[in-house]
Amino acid sequence: MLASLNIHHLRNLTQASLGPLSLHNVIYGINGSGKTSLLEAAHILGTARSFRSGGAKALITHGEETYVIQGERHLAASGSLSMGVQRQKGGEMSLRVAGEPSRSVSQLADELPLLLINAESFDLLVGEPANRRRFMDWGVFHVEHNLREHRRRFQRALTQRNHLLRRGNLDASELEVWTRDLAVHAELVSAGRDRFLTALRAIFEPLVNQLAPEIGPVDLAYRRGWDASCSYADALQRSLSSDQAQGFTQSGPQRADIRVTVSGYSAADTLSRGQQKLLVCALKLAQGQILAGQQGGVLYLIDDLPSELDAERCERVCRALAAMRAQTLITCVSRTAIPMEWLGLDAEVAMFHVEQGRVALDPDATNR
Ligand SMILES: Nc1ncnc2c1ncn2[C@@H]1O[C@H](COP(=O)(O)OP(=O)(O)OP(=O)(O)O)[C@@H](O)[C@H]1O
Ligand SMILES: [Mg+2]
Repeated sequence: MLASLNIHHLRNLTQASLGPLSLHNVIYGINGSGKTSLLEAAHILGTARSFRSGGAKALITHGEETYVIQGERHLAASGSLSMGVQRQKGGEMSLRVAGEPSRSVSQLADELPLLLINAESFDLLVGEPANRRRFMDWGVFHVEHNLREHRRRFQRALTQRNHLLRRGNLDASELEVWTRDLAVHAELVSAGRDRFLTALRAIFEPLVNQLAPEIGPVDLAYRRGWDASCSYADALQRSLSSDQAQGFTQSGPQRADIRVTVSGYSAADTLSRGQQKLLVCALKLAQGQILAGQQGGVLYLIDDLPSELDAERCERVCRALAAMRAQTLITCVSRTAIPMEWLGLDAEVAMFHVEQGRVALDPDATNR
């Protein structure tokens, strides 16, 4: 669990501390008070990057030179672990884990696995396939660490092959080498995605039943990016002349997708905005449960949970989160939008009020 978060010069958070954190943490405040910036701070601590556009300059408090984010994690065994990310206006970044300088962003991700639900999460349903590939890969890479290397080698082989195809004037043996390498790693990456989706479906379906039974049967179909009746090596062989004519590799895991349907119809084209949000929540909750089974908890960052949802459905999402026992940072505009009992026992829920970049533990909520 994340125990506390200290922020210096991030957006309007000149000097802010969020803590002591509970299992569930509701952060409320008016528009522009700094709620999303607090989630952004947690996100940067776990990924070294923001979920909003703009570089370091947009993140650092105007007129300042550097932001610093420091967090303390309770370890399951005992003791705690400190993590830190610091970034200068010019973009230079330094990471620290357990007091030691670190160069590895994936070390942060391993220490603080995060899942974000915000307005952009709708892209998981209605956006480009790249969003769904990222979703699958996040799951795969947190669960099957060895696939990170295959994914890297797949990407490298694809880049090299495309480079050769684009250049025309082919060296057939060189193309053959990269094609063989591509086929091997692509199959492994794709099989990992397939396993991840199979595991996900088993959790996702009951969750949809719980969050949005009205929607009807929802199906997730994996599209691996090439003709499912043959191996990728065969598909590459068959499309060689057309790949040469086009100057790039047309099929493969770089074209994979998940087709989400409701009673056989495209979910993106059919569902209402609130229903889409419930499906996105079900996908992300299922993703977190798979990870919890593998390596323990994930921290959910949920920006403006009540938006698009009626009170009853908002409560359902809260209760599903409470049942999962994953740690949450949830923002909302109004203090009353998320009653603490939706999230469980008083002792496990903290409420924080944000006002002009300052954070205070809500005493009324805590001493109810
Ligand atoms: N680099 C910056 N320096 C100073 N202030 C900034 C910077 N970037 C953004 N801000 C301001 O920080 C404030 C907090 O923004 P944030 O997005 O966190 O608000 P919020 O509480 O999530 O609001 P909303 O309810 O509208 O989503 C805003 O007033 C914004 O204008
Ligand atoms: Mg916001």
